[in-house]
Amino acid sequence: MINKLEELRAKALSELDSIKDPKSLEAWRISYLGRKSELTQMLRGLASLPVEERRAAGAAANQLKSFLEQSLSQREEAIKEAEIARAIEKGKLDVTLPGYPTTLGRLHPTIQILRQMCDIFVAMGFEVVEGPEVEWDYYNFEALNIPQDHPARDMWATMWMDYRNEKGERNMLLRTHTSPMQIRVMENRQPPVRVIVPGKVYRYEATDATHEAMFYQVEGFAVDKNITMADLKGTLFEFARRLFGKERKARFRCDYFPFVEPGVDMAIDCFVCKGAGCSLCSNSGWIEILGAGMIHPEVLRRVNYDPDIYTGFAFGMGVERMSMLKYGIDDIRLFYSNDLRFLKQF
Ligand code: PHE
Repeated sequence: MINKLEELRAKALSELDSIKDPKSLEAWRISYLGRKSELTQMLRGLASLPVEERRAAGAAANQLKSFLEQSLSQREEAIKEAEIARAIEKGKLDVTLPGYPTTLGRLHPTIQILRQMCDIFVAMGFEVVEGPEVEWDYYNFEALNIPQDHPARDMWATMWMDYRNEKGERNMLLRTHTSPMQIRVMENRQPPVRVIVPGKVYRYEATDATHEAMFYQVEGFAVDKNITMADLKGTLFEFARRLFGKERKARFRCDYFPFVEPGVDMAIDCFVCKGAGCSLCSNSGWIEILGAGMIHPEVLRRVNYDPDIYTGFAFGMGVERMSMLKYGIDDIRLFYSNDLRFLKQF
């Protein structure tokens, strides 16, 4: 059989060498590699050979098959090239003619800024983790110190799923923030943890220039021994300078979120008026960009972290907000209204 394969190789190659057009090439393919070709028949017949012979014959036959396939595609290329050369020679093909322009797609401005934000935190040693957009009441509220009927629930206008648990309660929702991932990550890991969570969040909200029913947030948190408010401040101020420019000033002010203590909001100085006061910053000179704080001991206890040993900080920021500030966009609805005149600017 090996001899026969050698004969076949020689014959196939010498025929292939003289082929100059695609039609004969196809005929060659059918006769040497087609279903009814000698080689294919031989490959099929392998099973009936005695075991000792089968192995060597099989290897040789398969080797010949891939060799012939390779030779075929080389020949195909050569024929194509010769055709083009002939066309150029005859003046039938003008390669200097400009081609048709293809329309290039691009990343949505939200995704562009989201990636910049993630890069900044990754450079600082944070890991990127994602989580579910459909969440349980427990993770979105309960585990974050926001029990049923607590007035703090009013801070997040919620879209509930049409689902009830065995007690008849609606306990499934579209997450209103990325903070539930603090719990999910801590439940599954031991400190030290340094994680950021980019993702979509939802609010039951009438849309206007600064509100959308769906938008993106980036959550971030770090838990370890000896983490202090100074680490939070250093991390976020550095983030603001890297995203908005070195000369940016930042400010912390007390704020309330049930899952942090103390809680703050962070603002940067308005880059339109440089702090003097204008319409963008409602005359305050500052623009709020995120909420943050030290993770509440009760939250740590709930995920079995000992708050006497470990401390941590957390922050959450709106992504479209960052983009609006960075590029001077004055209406959040522009992001998701699919107007190419807007999207093409980024
Ligand atoms: N999750 C909060 C919000 O959406 C922001 C926040 C995150 C505040 C982490 C403090 C710590 O409003």
